[in-house]
Order: sequence, then structure tokens, then C-alpha cells
Amino acid sequence: MRKFGLIGFPLSHSFSKRFFAEKFEAEGITDCLYELYPLENISELPAMLLDKNLCGLNVTIPYKERVIPFLDFKNEIVARINACNCIRIRDGRLYGYNTDAIGFQRSLVKKLGPGHDRALILGTGGASKAVEYVLGQLGISYRYVSRTPRTGFADLRYEEVSEELLLTHTLVINTTPLGMYPRTEECPPLPYQVLSPKHYLYDLVYNPARTLFLQKGEEHGATVENGYEMLIIQAEESWKIWNE
Ligand SMILES: NC(=O)c1ccc[n+]([C@@H]2O[C@H](COP(=O)([O-])OP(=O)(O)OC[C@H]3O[C@@H](n4cnc5c(N)ncnc54)[C@H](OP(=O)(O)O)[C@@H]3O)[C@@H](O)[C@H]2O)c1
Repeated sequence: MRKFGLIGFPLSHSFSKRFFAEKFEAEGITDCLYELYPLENISELPAMLLDKNLCGLNVTIPYKERVIPFLDFKNEIVARINACNCIRIRDGRLYGYNTDAIGFQRSLVKKLGPGHDRALILGTGGASKAVEYVLGQLGISYRYVSRTPRTGFADLRYEEVSEELLLTHTLVINTTPLGMYPRTEECPPLPYQVLSPKHYLYDLVYNPARTLFLQKGEEHGATVENGYEMLIIQAEESWKIWNE
């Protein structure tokens, strides 16, 4: 039996376990298992690796950075953004990848227009690093918006996102958890009234499918997308990497 799984903590609601169980069932894959491995400390990882049937792992909060010292190989994205969410295990060696970036890029570009050349990234957490990397690859300039701007960075405070600034930044990407179930009444504080069909609002949150942030965009005719497709693509990419 080939084993795969997710490390993180806590792991109460896992999309990945359900996704892979359904995939294995639908595709008649009977020799694979996908398990949850809630690790209270990343130092528990080496003991897990004694299981020679373990072929691949996904990595989630809070270990996307902390897992890096355990890797024997980092692909270019992992090295650049210092975050790994997918590990292939071969002959006891760990190969690190970041499929969040691939998922975000493939999903984002479907609705991207030529006018979406200046972006705001809301939030400075783990997922924002994959977003930043992808925008750099696509040649889209960006400013971060943060509750607590980092020293030495050109981060904006939310109060600094004026109507004028939002008019010129037509791509807005929410990487904060604001609006996520069950706190669906929340949204990032922005001057939404100036949004127009020129804008593209992308929310990494996927539950609910239409966050208040996206609803406000839709009300003004903006293009919108949630993080569900990104989630599916990153999972499928992990599967491809494990089977390469
Ligand atoms: N669709 C997908 O495949 C996918 C993949 C990864 C993550 N996600 C989603 O993306 C979101 C962020 O994930 P993450 O791993 O980056 O989380 P994270 O590391 O906790 O970072 C989120 C960032 O959002 C900002 N933030 C947090 N609470 C906030 C609040 N109450 N008000 C305003 N800003 C707040 C913070 O930035 P500042 O301190 O700078 O304000 C924080 O660093 C989550 O909802 C996650 O489910 C989706």
C-alpha cells in the first residue's frame, strides 16, 4: 500500500483527505491511502518517515516554513519563497515543492486581462508569499496591504488604500482569512464604492464560495474568483509530483 498524507496542526477539517479519498474511489485506485498526520511538533517528522510505505506529503499551517530544514532538495519556488506544501519521498530522501503557487497562477490567469497590471495583496502571511511569487513571474507590480506594515517593506496600511489608489490597482487579491466561514460578515476594509468592471477581485478563501469581499466586487461589475480552483489544482499537482 502506498501512503500519502497531510502534516499540520490542528487538522480538524481537511479538504485534502476528502479530495484524495474521492479521487481514489472515482479512479479505482485501490493501492493508495491518504491519512492525516496532526503533528504537535515538526520534530515528530523523522519518526513518521520510518514508514517505508510513505511516498508523499502535503504540508499545511504551521509547518510550510518549518519543514524546510528537513528537505534534501528544494525546487526553485520553495527556495524563493521559503514555503513548501508538497513533499515527494524517494529512497528516504525528501523533495520539496510548492503547489500553492502553481494552483494560484493557473487559476488567476484564466480571468486576467491586459489592464490588470497593478495589484494589491491583502495580508502578509504564508499564502501571500506564493501570490507574490506568481505576480512577479507574470510581471504584475504589487503593493502589500497589512494591519501591521513590516519594517523595511513598502507595505500599505488599510487606511492608506484611498479611492485613487484602488482605482489604479485593478487586481486585488485577498490572502487574509477575513470572510471565511463562519465569520462570513467580515471583509477587508477597502473603498469598494470605486470598484468597476475594470477590476478583478481574487479571494484565496473558498468557503463560502462568494465571500463578502467578492460580493462587493460583483455589485460593481468586477470580475471575481474564489480559491476553490486553486485548491483543486494544488492537490492534483501534488498527485502528479508524487507519481513522477
Ligand atoms: N485556496 C487555496 O488553495 C488556499 C491556499 C492557502 C491558503 N488559503 C487561504 O488563504 C488564507 C490565508 O492563509 P495563510 O496561510 O496565509 O494564513 P496566515 O499565514 O495566517 O496569514 C494570513 C494573513 O492575513 C492577515 N490577517 C489575519 N487575520 C486578519 C484579520 N483579522 N484582519 C485582517 N488581516 C488579517 C495577516 O496579515 P497582516 O498581519 O499583514 O495584516 C496574516 O498574516 C486562509 O483563509 C486560507 O484558508 C487558500
